[in-house]
Amino acid sequence: MPHPVTELMLQRNSSARLSSPAPDRALLNTLFQTAFRAPDHGLLRPWRYLVIENEGLEKLGELFAASALDAEPELSQAKYDKCLKMPCRAPMVIVAIGCIKEDVKVPEVEQMLSAGVGVGYLLLSLQAEGFGGMWRTGPMAYNTKVHEALGLSASERIVGFLYVGTPEGKAKTIPTHDVDTFVKNWPN
Ligand SMILES: Cc1cc2nc3c(=O)[nH]c(=O)nc-3n(C[C@H](O)[C@H](O)[C@H](O)COP(=O)(O)O)c2cc1C
Repeated sequence: MPHPVTELMLQRNSSARLSSPAPDRALLNTLFQTAFRAPDHGLLRPWRYLVIENEGLEKLGELFAASALDAEPELSQAKYDKCLKMPCRAPMVIVAIGCIKEDVKVPEVEQMLSAGVGVGYLLLSLQAEGFGGMWRTGPMAYNTKVHEALGLSASERIVGFLYVGTPEGKAKTIPTHDVDTFVKNWPN
């Protein structure tokens, strides 16, 4: 029998359909502490997060739509409307930001990996507490207008938009993987 933590990890599943409630701030603070336990070369803490709820989600939608239009002036009305509604797919969006520090020993890729591991922990701890999430990026994560409006500096990157809430409907089937496909001994 796997340990309950191992079992939780085996059952980790993203949830595209999320409704209210999202975790309250007290629980969320504990969940963020799990993200802060990500392995971190040089203890640089190369991450920060923005929590967006309520009218903030509408504002984020307006920002997405305006930024998409700015990037593509010929954007169709349908695509514009889709961007407008995007953040309202969940009651909470957490913007995970990688904050790249100047360091001779720790390159940017390691710092982004560390921030990404934190997002993974956040997803796992959300699920452990009965909530769900979905890690998304897309063009908005790489759009400079979005970066500017969210207050990112030149050394910061969006790791992901984490959509958070209570999973709706039936959970997806967990895929199975053949370990030998991905894992080999070396030397053989
Ligand atoms: C960095 C990153 C960005 C992602 N961006 C998107 C995205 O924009 N849209 C999307 O549908 N899935 C995206 N995904 C994948 C989903 O979060 C999810 O992992 C995938 O649907 C598989 O589901 P599962 O996590 O339950 O296995 C992204 C994953 C990562 C790690």
